[in-house]
Amino acid sequence: MQYIRKSIVVTGASRGIGAALVNAYAAQGDEVIAVARSLPKASRSNIQPLAADLATDAGIARLVRAIEEWGQGVDILINNAGIQNEIALTGFIEPATIDTEIALNLASPIKLSLALMPFLRGAGSTVVNVTSLVALHPKPSAPVYSATKAGLSSFTRALRHQMSGKGIAVVEVIPPVVATDMTAGRGHGKLSPEDMAAAIIAGVAQGATLVAPGKSRLVMRLNRFLPGLVARFLAKE
Ligand SMILES: NC(=O)c1ccc[n+]([C@@H]2O[C@H](COP(=O)([O-])OP(=O)(O)OC[C@H]3O[C@@H](n4cnc5c(N)ncnc54)[C@H](OP(=O)(O)O)[C@@H]3O)[C@@H](O)[C@H]2O)c1
Repeated sequence: MQYIRKSIVVTGASRGIGAALVNAYAAQGDEVIAVARSLPKASRSNIQPLAADLATDAGIARLVRAIEEWGQGVDILINNAGIQNEIALTGFIEPATIDTEIALNLASPIKLSLALMPFLRGAGSTVVNVTSLVALHPKPSAPVYSATKAGLSSFTRALRHQMSGKGIAVVEVIPPVVATDMTAGRGHGKLSPEDMAAAIIAGVAQGATLVAPGKSRLVMRLNRFLPGLVARFLAKE
């Protein structure tokens, strides 16, 4: 059977999980808009790189304009861009640091999901939000990050309810520790970004509502019976 090419938007596409997603989708022939602040690499002609700061409304508007000009409609939106700040709540915190983390990790996936709704190709299209295990229990050293991921997890479930009548799938991705810049110098037995991307691509293709490969699946199962133990484990991650 002939493969039908899809139009895909990936945020946080210059490195890590996002770059691996862009490369894998492009390698199977899909058209990809790859977004980050620094211009993502376009190793193939079916990758359209876009520089946009998604922590700002101007950056979000820039992406929406680019999709309008692209004129292809969107099959899959992957809200992957994220930052994680270590924050000591007992010390001085620059307000802009908090604003940016909330704007990128929580507000931008919400705003993009809504702004790109008119471009989604209706039934069969998919919105993917990348959250985290710290949505279950906070990582105390990254309190704002944990709060944004818990918020995004909640929004993802609400969006799924509202989209169910329209046939638009909404997927939550909960990565285990993946070997990217975000986890440099911590964790062990990390998943490669390529394996993480492959799990997301397979999950979306199979119509999964949750993609939680490797240790994430195990931690989520354990959390049903031993939430206190999981909370202590995540506090040390
Ligand atoms: N790695 C893990 O173990 C892990 C675990 C759980 C969840 N996650 C989640 O998975 C997602 C990807 O993580 P990762 O590990 O691949 O991160 P990463 O390697 O640090 O890459 C983050 C990506 O986001 C982009 N980005 C940062 N600020 C941006 C902004 N203001 N506007 C647009 N793009 C921006 C970065 O590009 P520029 O700097 O060029 O903008 C980069 O492409 C994140 O949402 C993260 O929270 C990761």
